[in-house]
Amino acid sequence: MRKTINGLSVFISGSNDSKAIIFVHGFPFDHTMWQEQVDDLSKNFLCVSYDIRGLGESPAGDGQFTMESFVDDLEKITDELKLEKPILCGLSMGGYISLRAMERMQNKFSALILCDTKSVADDNEGKLKRAAAIKQISSGEFNTFIESFVLNCFGEMFVKENSVEYRRVVDRSKKNNPIGVKGCLLAMVCRTNTTENLSKIKIPTLVICGSEDKLSPPDVMKSMANKIPNANFVLVEGAGHMTPIENPQVVNKAIRDFLIKNNF
Ligand code: MLT
Repeated sequence: MRKTINGLSVFISGSNDSKAIIFVHGFPFDHTMWQEQVDDLSKNFLCVSYDIRGLGESPAGDGQFTMESFVDDLEKITDELKLEKPILCGLSMGGYISLRAMERMQNKFSALILCDTKSVADDNEGKLKRAAAIKQISSGEFNTFIESFVLNCFGEMFVKENSVEYRRVVDRSKKNNPIGVKGCLLAMVCRTNTTENLSKIKIPTLVICGSEDKLSPPDVMKSMANKIPNANFVLVEGAGHMTPIENPQVVNKAIRDFLIKNNF
């Protein structure tokens, strides 16, 4: 089922009587990056995915987003659907949103799944890269930006062996509104560092990382997991930054094992 909440496109699968999982996608992707997880987990859970403002089918508006406004959107969706302490699952930018949501409203969620993300904010080099990306898009090279950014997100093995799926993701990302994509870049560059709050995350947490992730590498994610009191770390061998797409079997099993262990 598709719904519009706070102007955003929200996708719901599974039974209303089941525990809900909210999936928050990465940049510059959309809700379809969670398709393999939704197909599997909706047999036992109410799976809610949505397109972050400015991406996919959600409107870009004036492109003036912040991590705070992204968390406001997540809160509106949770409240509007009357989800009773859902499990929150975010990848990369979706993880930045989830980690900030932990600071603002941890009590609204019952568990946290962090895929290929980090708590630190952009350093100077990272900020300059974002600025260069915005300049590149503004000068009409949107498709070139998408091609190179998305390539960097995937492990080499996946790109070689799954070229059809890889192209599908690239082509879908190119359909985004450049205003929305630039807005997300600005929201990411302005995000706060959420590292100090990691020790205050009391809900069960699963941390998943691809062994070949160049954007949030295993050592960074392991040290993040070590700071969260009740966290399990799972390494997905051979995968890059897009573990849910690159190795859905391992990711789905890790999520299922985590949910069973915590009696969900
Ligand atoms: C993402 O996958 O959401 C992005 O790689 C995050 C980022 O650029 O920091």
